Amino acid sequence: MERIRIDATRCYDVIIGGGVLSQIGKLTASLVKGRRCAVVSDDTTHELFFEDVRRLLEASGFSVADFVIPHGEESKNAENYLKLLEFLADENLTRADCVIALGGGVVGDLTGFAAASFLRGISFIQIPTTLLAAVDSSVGGKTAINLRAGKNLAGAFYQPSLVLCDTEIIKSLPPEIFSDGMAEVIKYGVLGNWHILDLCHMGAYEHLEELIAECIRIKRDIVAQDEFDLGIRQLLNLGHTPAHAIEKLSNFKISHGHAVAIGMCHMARAAEHLLLCAAGIAAEIEELCRKYSLPTECIYNTEELALYAMSDKKRSSGKITLVFPFVRGKSELHTFDVSELRSIFEKGFLPSIPEMF
Ligand code: GLY
Repeated sequence: MERIRIDATRCYDVIIGGGVLSQIGKLTASLVKGRRCAVVSDDTTHELFFEDVRRLLEASGFSVADFVIPHGEESKNAENYLKLLEFLADENLTRADCVIALGGGVVGDLTGFAAASFLRGISFIQIPTTLLAAVDSSVGGKTAINLRAGKNLAGAFYQPSLVLCDTEIIKSLPPEIFSDGMAEVIKYGVLGNWHILDLCHMGAYEHLEELIAECIRIKRDIVAQDEFDLGIRQLLNLGHTPAHAIEKLSNFKISHGHAVAIGMCHMARAAEHLLLCAAGIAAEIEELCRKYSLPTECIYNTEELALYAMSDKKRSSGKITLVFPFVRGKSELHTFDVSELRSIFEKGFLPSIPEMF
């Protein structure tokens, strides 16, 4: 088992290991004063895990309210956000109580934003049930819902009180959901620690606890320096500018992880052709994406990508900050005029450059 302390406006532990879900009742009781909690899940995670979570919480003296949303990105909307707030009010939750997000990134982001705003802030706990949520969205306090204009456009920085990541749950995922999370794992290797990619070459299932912990350690160090995403935290957006465009263009038929894989390969190829990155990096990212059944090529054209990227949150005053791989285990931020975006994206369609020696 790994326990990683996150140092932010609220300090909390991320606990990672096989079977740690069994501690949910005891840990929640040690963190909150009240004995009422609302568990938010989607129809899939509800069916698989809710009864266990309810039983464990009740055994620790909690009464449990149960809020379920349909699975999928479309659920991360203003309507479900308001429904959840009304539900918490109807269930008479107080600031001494807590909300638990039992699910992937959609459940976590929506629940976190509701927790941030209900009664101006109620404790919440993340139980990530996907690899993607485990290594990225459950940690660091970004909460949000989507607006018509784009992803995550309304939200708050609001840290959970605990993240409980049970690797047995993550290992039980269908292969395509596991693969989706591997895109974020590969991202952490590219931007912060190439050892993660060595572990990916060896086999993610076999090294899962170590892999998740290594990703969280990178995120911990970045969040400690820039909780509110004003500088270095933008490194975590490697591949995300094209990825958000790809998700939107596909009407969310292309999942976040698949879009991140494409976006990361695209930006790595662009970086090599812009001479911002060592040759060979893009080919290795592509190889690992293929190993985990992730796509590497963008089916949309430069114009389409650029159009959606214009509404990106990372754009301000005619400038956009993009993340590019630099050398193995290190990425860098570069700020460009938005008028340069098309020619940058264009380079991502060129083939990766092989390592010379
Ligand atoms: N998912 C990117 C971040 O937490 O900043």
